[in-house]
Amino acid sequence: MSLMTWIDERFPATKVVKEHFTEYYAPKNFNFWYFFGSLALVVLILQIVTGILLAMNYKPDAELAFASVEYIMRDVWGGWFVRYMHSTGASMFFVVIYLHMFRGLLYGSYRNPRELIWIFGMVIYLAMMATAFFGYLLPWGQMSYWGAQVIVNLFETLPIVGGALSEWIRGDYVISDITLNRFYAFHYLIPFILVGLVFLHIVALHKVGSNNPDGVEIKKGPKGNKWSKDAPKDSIPFHPYYTVKDLVGLVVFLALFFAIVFFMPEMGGYFLEQPNYEPANPLKTPEHIAPVWYFTPYYAILRAIPSFAGTQVWGVLAMFASIAMFFLLPWLDKSPVRSMRYKGLMFKAWLTAFAISFVVLGYLGTQAPTEGKTLAAQIFTAIYFAFFLLMPFYSKMDKTKPEPERIG
Ligand code: HEM
Repeated sequence: MSLMTWIDERFPATKVVKEHFTEYYAPKNFNFWYFFGSLALVVLILQIVTGILLAMNYKPDAELAFASVEYIMRDVWGGWFVRYMHSTGASMFFVVIYLHMFRGLLYGSYRNPRELIWIFGMVIYLAMMATAFFGYLLPWGQMSYWGAQVIVNLFETLPIVGGALSEWIRGDYVISDITLNRFYAFHYLIPFILVGLVFLHIVALHKVGSNNPDGVEIKKGPKGNKWSKDAPKDSIPFHPYYTVKDLVGLVVFLALFFAIVFFMPEMGGYFLEQPNYEPANPLKTPEHIAPVWYFTPYYAILRAIPSFAGTQVWGVLAMFASIAMFFLLPWLDKSPVRSMRYKGLMFKAWLTAFAISFVVLGYLGTQAPTEGKTLAAQIFTAIYFAFFLLMPFYSKMDKTKPEPERIG
């Protein structure tokens, strides 16, 4: 008896490889946009591996944290390399995920029957944001400290429970050693929850099968190709075709990734912010506090809403609502077609306006507010919400092109 048979009688190894790789039949027309799922997986693993290596020399103690990071950078063998991979990885994770999500918007991948893939994706996105937020406190620099202070203080604006809630999150009246310890615990924990969520994401994907740039359901088309008489005609096996294709994407990505790690790890202050080269000082507020770039669209929305009836809570609610909108997407899009290729001018214009708003809000969130910039943030916030809230109407009124029977 071969070793493989011995294993297969006890564990479905061959069955799993067949179902999810060699006999997982994916649409044959994947393009550039389909690289980002596998890239996200690679970056997640890279973050976990480099994170564990960092944890071997990092000290989650307000007295020692900043110095332990400097120790990693200067004295630990290869420490600078591991830390720059981790800090670059954090930002690149969000670059990859934003492109992965935008692909979903382009091709209507969130729509029936893929709502749960999308919902799991959104839970993943929330977990990523939590991980990044907790992780940012760990170097215990000025921006770590004051960024966390500002964000935790937001909860104070909630009526009745606000004060108690923010105190509960911090474990103290201000960000302190206690906060640092618990943020470290969560920062180490959540990535493993992410692994579980990604597993569910892929299980849901493989249950219904991948969408594709045409948004046409290959399972509804004719069956039978040179690999299998039951597979959809317009499909190819994931392995070797897409494993090899994804490798090409990976090589290009890694070239870019290591160019950043070696030549511009701070990325002009966007990946590693200048104030964070100064240790946290509770007695000295930095002149300008802004979160890292991947949070700034939401930060801009928060600041765009003026305080009303003496409370800032409306801005906080708008910020949470702006993220919550994504969850509703599968039920807001009423278009008869899935992919942007067959949607009409109206939907295309709204998606373009949304993408521009997201980027401009991201820029505005990095800037100190002025009257003009606040007005701009208000206009783009309105467009951001209109994209979602008006979707049931414009997606119905839109003049779509007929969807082909099969992918081209
Ligand atoms: C750690 C983060 C994530 C990982 C590792 C991941 C992984 C993947 C992989 C490997 C695929 C299949 C390949 C592909 O279609 O690109 C996929 C598909 C998909 N993902 Fe994710 N994903 C992540 C986060 C997200 C997020 C945040 C969303 C959206 C909120 C999302 C929505 C989707 C959708 C809708 C599909 C199906 C796309 C289609 O068939 O056209 N994913 N994901």
